[in-house]
Amino acid sequence: MTVTRRLYVLLLTIMLLVAVYFGMNHPMDPMLQSLDRGLVVHDDALQPVVPLRKPGSLRADRVALGRQLFSDARLSGDGTVSCSSCHRLEFGGTDNQSVSTGIQGAKGTVNAPTVLNSGFGFSQFWDGRASSLEVQASGPIHNPVEMGSNWAQVIERLGQDAAISKAFASAYSDGLNAANIANALATFERSLVTVDSRLDQYLLGDTRILTDDEIKGYKRFREYGCTSCHQGALLGGNMYQKFGVMGDYFAGKQVTKADLGRYNVTGREEDRHVFKVPTLRNVALTAPYFHDGSAETLEAAVKIMGRYQLGRELDDSDVNLIVAFLRTLSGPGLMKKVRE
Ligand code: HEC
Ligand code: HEC
Repeated sequence: MTVTRRLYVLLLTIMLLVAVYFGMNHPMDPMLQSLDRGLVVHDDALQPVVPLRKPGSLRADRVALGRQLFSDARLSGDGTVSCSSCHRLEFGGTDNQSVSTGIQGAKGTVNAPTVLNSGFGFSQFWDGRASSLEVQASGPIHNPVEMGSNWAQVIERLGQDAAISKAFASAYSDGLNAANIANALATFERSLVTVDSRLDQYLLGDTRILTDDEIKGYKRFREYGCTSCHQGALLGGNMYQKFGVMGDYFAGKQVTKADLGRYNVTGREEDRHVFKVPTLRNVALTAPYFHDGSAETLEAAVKIMGRYQLGRELDDSDVNLIVAFLRTLSGPGLMKKVRE
């Protein structure tokens, strides 16, 4: 061997040893690893996503009353449908149908959003037409393809139930009336906060709770700019945005009235196809997706978001990483129920 060749082999051996040393050492060193992972959490001066917190004090008697009413079919015209028919808490607060079925098999026009964490939404419904949960409650009760009833009928039926009348009299100074039924339902919904998802535990400092892929997915979610619309504690629910910012999502589709979104509320041209940005909390449990229930899987929904909201074609590897991240947003109790 020539001298140069020997030197070359020596150099290669040293490089190999160095590589092996770092390769082995790095994953074995918990300090280094947690620092590395910790950086992911702290590299943003401003976190676009923040943990959910338990709601402020809610009156227990009103929450209990609302919980009972939520699954009470006497709120519907023919006594067959309750709020929980379409917002099944064990299914992430939805019915997992593309559009809901109301009384007498009537089909609705839009996908049922989750009621979980709805108390933090800045408005209610896909088009934001209800300013509060109290205002919202009157919608399904009166909707002919949902519960097909009215306040007078509901109050009359509940009034015949001595236990319910008594519970209202003790929870509200003015007893059983429409405003208090709406308030009890809303108070119960405000209690439906899914704290302690794995992402929340990560954001609160448990940097080892997520897998590397989930962390990468969270990074992609931020780098692509999903957080420009899906942000805050709900990853949504705090702004209106057009569906189809970077391309016409509705091109070639039979456009329905519901597809007009916020235009139906304001009548303003710029609100055509504008919707409330939905929360992504528990999104892994609430398929199918979008106001029209058109995306059957989370993968499909993420691809469409990339194309129409960001003008990017996401490859399968990025889609899978983002989906892995989205799965960290389910409340732990719910995940357990779904698995059981
Ligand atoms: C027949 C199915 C059905 C029933 C019954 C029903 N809902 Fe809904 N719910 C829906 C659908 C569909 C939407 C979306 C409607 C829209 O945006 O125009 C919705 C929207 C909501 C929202 C808004 C969530 C958000 O993020 O915007 C809340 C809150 C809600 N429902 C609560 C209730 C309550 C309380 C009851 C009982 C009084 C009830 N729902 C009964 C199907 C139903
Ligand atoms: C410009 C704002 C905007 C951006 C950016 C954006 N979204 Fe959305 N997202 C929306 C709106 C608006 C909807 C509701 C569309 C509809 O159904 O009409 C939505 C719906 C969704 C849904 C379906 C939720 C459900 O319950 O039906 C998912 C999942 C989603 N987005 C994920 C993402 C991901 C992942 C990214 C980044 C790749 C992203 N979004 C980027 C505005 C945005």
